[in-house]
Amino acid sequence: MKNKVDFTNIKTPAYLYNISLLEQTLNSIQKLANQYKYHVHYALKANNNPRILQTISGFGFGADCVSGNEIKEAIKQGFKTSQIAFAGVGKTDEEINYALEQEIFSFNCESLPEIEVINELAQKMQKTASLALRINPNVDANTHKYITTGLEENKFGINLWDIDSILDAMEGMQNVKLTGIHFHIGSQITDLDTFKNLSNRINQIQEKLYARQLIVDHINVGGGLGINYHQPDEDPIPDFESYFKIFHDFLELRPKQQLHFELGRSIVGQMGSLLSKVIYVKKASKKDFLIIDAAMTDLIRPALYQAYHKIENLSSTCEEKQNYDVVGPVCESADIFAKAVSLPKSQRGDYILIRSAGAYGQVMSSNYNMRDNAQVVFVD
Ligand code: LLP
Repeated sequence: MKNKVDFTNIKTPAYLYNISLLEQTLNSIQKLANQYKYHVHYALKANNNPRILQTISGFGFGADCVSGNEIKEAIKQGFKTSQIAFAGVGKTDEEINYALEQEIFSFNCESLPEIEVINELAQKMQKTASLALRINPNVDANTHKYITTGLEENKFGINLWDIDSILDAMEGMQNVKLTGIHFHIGSQITDLDTFKNLSNRINQIQEKLYARQLIVDHINVGGGLGINYHQPDEDPIPDFESYFKIFHDFLELRPKQQLHFELGRSIVGQMGSLLSKVIYVKKASKKDFLIIDAAMTDLIRPALYQAYHKIENLSSTCEEKQNYDVVGPVCESADIFAKAVSLPKSQRGDYILIRSAGAYGQVMSSNYNMRDNAQVVFVD
């Protein structure tokens, strides 16, 4: 990326999105998913830029949405309603009604009260809603605690011991149909054994359902595949081959059962970077700070999860290296991108690139301190 883009014309901070890398990533997924006959939904929450959504829907992928507005946007950008899954612990009546009107693929349900409301609202419209139970499999994702979702202590999903009573209750409901079971245990999972553990747990759950003579049409294993934040150039495209193979090898599908995925970060993470400029180099007694014009309002991951993003100086040709705390201008001590980063000696006006920012970057931005939004520039 270093030599191909003329940064000097770009107003910073700016999100740079590499559509050609996105297309290569989508090609890789499509090839493997077709081979296994797997269905992939893109999790819009990771990045909802319209051009990115159009590119992904153009490959025929489905969508994974967590709000009524995401469903609307998915439809607007070309995703088929018959391929939209709707997840979330707190779907409102308005959102449910909208999704019912659109006849989406599946409501991924997280509690009995939610299922009761969907049944009631569907009855009013004389429709039958397709439901997948989001089950909390109690499998540890071994990732940051804020992005772990599949443990009993988390707010997500239905606990294993509640499945039977929920299925009993559903037998009396006329306007919902159980079509699937859904799982999502966390995000930025880099140890693929975790997905083996998930597959084994799903096999046990399938046995339990089978004992009730229940075979659901589809299993949705959520998302979670991690990306290489430390060496983005070594792994620009995540290892989808090993990822899909784990499920192929360990998850026992019943005849005709379909396997669905909801990938977010692994699709868009590496195609985005945040470009920024050094405003000041501040020398303090114990350390030097690079104060840049991007802030936690543009990319909150380091402040919120202590997440690592690789940082590069694109301008400096200086051989000499120096350690800097790279910080934004916002009035919060947490507005730090990284501490003690070794960079070529830097100066005011240098361009700084924060890598792997395509997922959960722009979408989590805010206007705190009345800051402007970073602009978006498409690069190849
Ligand atoms: N399906 C469900 C039900 C989800 O909750 C998520 C992400 C996904 C799929 C997509 O997961 P992915 O493939 O992207 O790991 N803001 C955090 C990540 C939050 C993930 C929320 N759920 C971060 O910046 O790391």
